[in-house]
Amino acid sequence: MNGFRSWDLILSTAEIILNHSTDRITIRQPDDWHVHLRDGAILEAVLPSTSRVFHRAVVMPNLNSPITSLDKAVAYRKQIENLIPKGHDFKPLMTLYLTDDISPDIINDGFNQGEIFAAKLYPANSTTNSSSGVTDIKAIDPLFAMMESIGMPLLIHGEVTDPDVDIFDREAIFIERELIPLLSRHQGLRVVLEHITTKDAVQFVEDFSGNLAATITPHHLHINRNAMLANGFRSDFYCLPVAKRELHRLALRRAATSGKECFFLGTDSAPHVRGAKESACGCAGIFNAPVALQSYAEVFDEEDALDRLEGFTSLFGPKFYRLPINKNFISLVKQTYIVPESLDVINHDNSIERIVPFHASKKLKWTLSV
Ligand code: NCD
Ligand code: ZN
Repeated sequence: MNGFRSWDLILSTAEIILNHSTDRITIRQPDDWHVHLRDGAILEAVLPSTSRVFHRAVVMPNLNSPITSLDKAVAYRKQIENLIPKGHDFKPLMTLYLTDDISPDIINDGFNQGEIFAAKLYPANSTTNSSSGVTDIKAIDPLFAMMESIGMPLLIHGEVTDPDVDIFDREAIFIERELIPLLSRHQGLRVVLEHITTKDAVQFVEDFSGNLAATITPHHLHINRNAMLANGFRSDFYCLPVAKRELHRLALRRAATSGKECFFLGTDSAPHVRGAKESACGCAGIFNAPVALQSYAEVFDEEDALDRLEGFTSLFGPKFYRLPINKNFISLVKQTYIVPESLDVINHDNSIERIVPFHASKKLKWTLSV
């Protein structure tokens, strides 16, 4: 029934055992500005990992049957809310999946009713469950015009899908071919370039003075493409956009820890069961929700920038989205935390599948104090 129960037990054991340091950091409760919660049994299994740490989360709409209508967004919000564990103060912020033929009215109605927080642009076939995405970005300008006029943010998976473009260049080329023209056609549109992975994106977002921000994931701060491809292919590190060369990882670390308000937390936690990751055509996505905050803290510590952690995790996102900052606080302590090797998903036929988290079986230096 409760796919998360065994995980919670392991977490509390790990957190209690290894208590031998006094370093502690207390920050405003963070929000996750980009998360995949899925639905059904996986949602049930993964939701507590997000809702125990984050107060709000922007929930991505790329379900097997994508969230392309107001009714679907409402039903999905209710499905999530029904599964929030007691004692977790969590608010899902719903997104609409843009397609070639969505009507601007859905955007207007969804926004006015407070049901749709933002719209997500997936170039068709750019990533997991994006086959119904947008085939011609300019052709949906009327949707962007509506968003611009009502103030709804646009969240972008920024990769071109042209088969002639090398997968490692897809983000940089997207900026040139699609993002720059889009931003100039819609100068009042508020845009988030999601899960950036390149120095090109860092530089572009930094230099753009306007309504543009970017989220940065924990995994792109920790790994470069060697983690996935050297010494055997490791599907656990396969996500989209793919991790790039080391110089890009270093640029992302500088951006995240810079204290610049245009860069903020978005985990892109993207769970897939083991069999879906390890197959002839393995799914892209890294499940990091249970370790995301600890993982970011480790990066900020290594960069000697713990004093800037709170801005990145808890202040810059609300500022961009024009939301209040959270009232509660959360603490991390410098204690070794051994990340569990997997989380069980208990399917409705009682079969069990596993999801392997980021940093599985590894030691992290920071742990949540709950
Ligand atoms: C995400 C997923 O699995 O839904 N995968 C990923 O590699 N990040 C989709 C996405 O955000 O690209
Ligand atoms: Zn994502």
